Amino acid sequence: MGRLEGKTAAITGAGGGIGKAAAELFAAEGAVVVVLETDEKPGRSVADSINDSGGRALFIQTDISDEKSVIAAFSVIEESLGRLDVLYNNASVFLGGSDASVTKLSTTVWHKILSVNLNGLFYCCKYGIPLLINSGGGAVINTSSSAGVIGIPKCDAYTATKGATISLTKSMAVEYGPHNVRVNCIAPAAIATPMVLESNFKDPEFDEQRFLATTPLRKWGQPEDIAGIALFLASDEASYLNGAVIVADGGITVV
Ligand SMILES: NC(=O)c1ccc[n+]([C@@H]2O[C@H](COP(=O)([O-])OP(=O)(O)OC[C@H]3O[C@@H](n4cnc5c(N)ncnc54)[C@H](O)[C@@H]3O)[C@@H](O)[C@H]2O)c1
Repeated sequence: MGRLEGKTAAITGAGGGIGKAAAELFAAEGAVVVVLETDEKPGRSVADSINDSGGRALFIQTDISDEKSVIAAFSVIEESLGRLDVLYNNASVFLGGSDASVTKLSTTVWHKILSVNLNGLFYCCKYGIPLLINSGGGAVINTSSSAGVIGIPKCDAYTATKGATISLTKSMAVEYGPHNVRVNCIAPAAIATPMVLESNFKDPEFDEQRFLATTPLRKWGQPEDIAGIALFLASDEASYLNGAVIVADGGITVV
């Protein structure tokens, strides 16, 4: 029996990177997976490939920064699947090259990053948590970053959203614990995904060899490394874990 047998899990940003790896892993462990992704082609392709390989997945094109889109997505989940057990808030944008230190950061870019990373998180929790409660409880998995744990320069809008994600995780853990909803957070870094290509490799000052030499595990993480942690948090094995922030960064933030 799979570790998520009988559960329905919605994953935002499941068209690529960590979200895609989690969608595939959750489905392999028996969950019905809802792919909430703004980019239609990869989102549909992830759901199709899960269904073709014997799993169950539903793609709903969703822009988490658009409240109406989020309301519509959770209505479809409620009407077509009747329950929700796991809400994995994974989608974010980084906007490397546009995000910057506050004095150099354009107000437009600030709002753009907050609209996805923070408003999107808020909308998904606002409309997703009632479905978890109606299903008798469940798990919310939020996504911060090393940028939410230590100071990382030149991406202040992203950093602000990732710090806020940790604070919101803790307040929601307190608020929804009595409803049997566990709220935890993963803070990754250095996972080899399109976001890292955008954030590190577009920066002319980035030196991969030096970066790896100062990373205790001396390697990039893979999307599956984070998906495995999300699987644990989604499963009943984490039944007494609430309000936790799991820093999954190869040790970068403890150096
Ligand atoms: N990769 C890393 O090293 C790293 C480090 C720290 C934190 N994180 C966090 O992990 C999460 C996943 O990162 P990733 O590296 O897989 O990113 P990614 O950019 O590779 O994938 C993000 C996915 O989210 C989707 N998305 C973007 N905006 C959306 C929106 N408005 N609505 C719905 N979907 C949207 C994208 O289309 C994409 O499929 C993010 O929250 C990110 O901040 C990643």
